[in-house]
Amino acid sequence: MSDEPYLGVAFCGLTFNNPVFTASGTFSARESGRFYDFAKLGAVTTKGVSARPWLGNNTPRIAETRSGMLNAIGLENPGADRFIAEELPFIREYIGDSGARVIVNVAGHDADEYREAAEKLDGADVDMLELNISCPNIREGGLAFGADPRMAAEVTRVVRRVARKPLIVKLTPNVTDITEIARAVESEGADALSLINTLVGMSIDADRRAPLLANVSGGLSGPAIKPVALHMVYRTVRAVRIPVIGMGGIMSGVDAAEFLMAGASAVAVGTASLIKPSAPLDICAELETFMAERGYANVASLSLGTN
Ligand SMILES: Cc1cc2nc3c(=O)[nH]c(=O)nc-3n(C[C@H](O)[C@H](O)[C@H](O)COP(=O)(O)O)c2cc1C
Repeated sequence: MSDEPYLGVAFCGLTFNNPVFTASGTFSARESGRFYDFAKLGAVTTKGVSARPWLGNNTPRIAETRSGMLNAIGLENPGADRFIAEELPFIREYIGDSGARVIVNVAGHDADEYREAAEKLDGADVDMLELNISCPNIREGGLAFGADPRMAAEVTRVVRRVARKPLIVKLTPNVTDITEIARAVESEGADALSLINTLVGMSIDADRRAPLLANVSGGLSGPAIKPVALHMVYRTVRAVRIPVIGMGGIMSGVDAAEFLMAGASAVAVGTASLIKPSAPLDICAELETFMAERGYANVASLSLGTN
């Protein structure tokens, strides 16, 4: 066993105690905080928050699949005002002076709604904004903002104008070429990228001869999507100059190491937390062990390099 590796990372002008974050929508401070000390993570990312409350989709809105799960929650959330008044103070008090960062995931149905939410949240006590551009664009027939370089660029531009905090844009994998979207949002001032969001899929209940989800389609996450996510991270890191946060099916410290090898600056753990709530912290410990056993002194030394 070699010396203890140094897990700290720095990007977007911020330092992080380690490169393991929670993925949006799979972390709730009040619930997760009962199972493990999330102040020990590099950052926590909240569920999507919109300018006003959203109800979410009808149930059932979760379905298990082989090596993954489908969700069609529909971004249910109490809206930015209640998030700022009730959820954020709880998170801040919990993490205290640990140095864990708070990233708020931002949702909207159109560019104005994104701007409104971002304006409110940028003024609150958060460290970074993460723009979820997988939301359907209501004004343009429900196609996800992130599925089209023009719409992705526009929503980034609108939010960039009002956001002073570092802006992460979270990309959808439901596109032909993710690097095209990545470059479009980078050119409009995104400070970092996170990827991937869920892949669109469906399940059919053969006994009932009906779709399993009330919404018919949902987002596939978990181990099933890891190879897709890893490749998209690998390609995106090589297409842009801004840092990339990698996610998609990370279930172990070795999985996390693979994303860091692909060139991610940090990783996020999602579905694994729904199986085992303490997964993000366990994965961080496993990553440290992996690095120590193989003599990696720091996170950057894991990267394959971009040449
Ligand atoms: C139940 C659930 C809710 C999610 N909610 C959000 C969300 O509000 N905003 C967002 O950008 N991504 C959301 N995601 C996507 C995750 O943050 C992550 O990008 C995706 O699940 C891939 O990572 P994983 O395979 O580790 O879960 C959600 C995922 C799940 C499973």
